[in-house]
Amino acid sequence: MSVIGLCSDHAGFELKEAIKRLLEARGLPYKDFGTYSSESCDYPDYAHMLAHAVEAGEVYPGIALCGTGNGIAITLNRHSGIRAALCWKGVLASLARAHNDANVLVLPARFISEEEAAGVIGLFLETPFEGGRHRRRIEKIG
Ligand code: RB5
Repeated sequence: MSVIGLCSDHAGFELKEAIKRLLEARGLPYKDFGTYSSESCDYPDYAHMLAHAVEAGEVYPGIALCGTGNGIAITLNRHSGIRAALCWKGVLASLARAHNDANVLVLPARFISEEEAAGVIGLFLETPFEGGRHRRRIEKIG
C-alpha cells in the first residue's frame, strides 16, 4: 500500500490533523511533511518537500492544504512531476483523477468543512485515471 504524503501551512494545520485522523480510521498510511502547529509559516517550504517526495516515489498521492489552496497548488505545480489539483467538491476530485491523473490533491482549508474534505478525499483516492485521450493531453503538458 502506498503512503499518502501530507503537508500544509498554518492555515491548513487543523484540517490536516483531522485528515490524519480520517486516514488512521481507514487504515491508510501517511507521512506528514509539516507544518506541525498553527504558528505562522510559509507554504512553499512544505509544498517543495511534498513535491520532492512524490517525484521520488516516496509517497503517493499527496494531499496539501493552505488557506485558499492557491499558494500551495502554485508552488507544487512548479515541479515537473507534479499535477496538483485544487478541489473543493467531490466531482472536481473525481475529474482531477480521471482526466488529469492528478497526483496531489489540494484543499482550500479556510473554505471547506471537515465533512466536505472527507468526501473530496474519498473520491480522489478511489477514482482511477481514464487514460486514452487524457494521457495524450497530459503528455503535452511537458
Ligand atoms: C495564509 O494566511 C494564506 O495566505 C495561505 O494559507 C494561502 O491561502 C495562500 O495562498
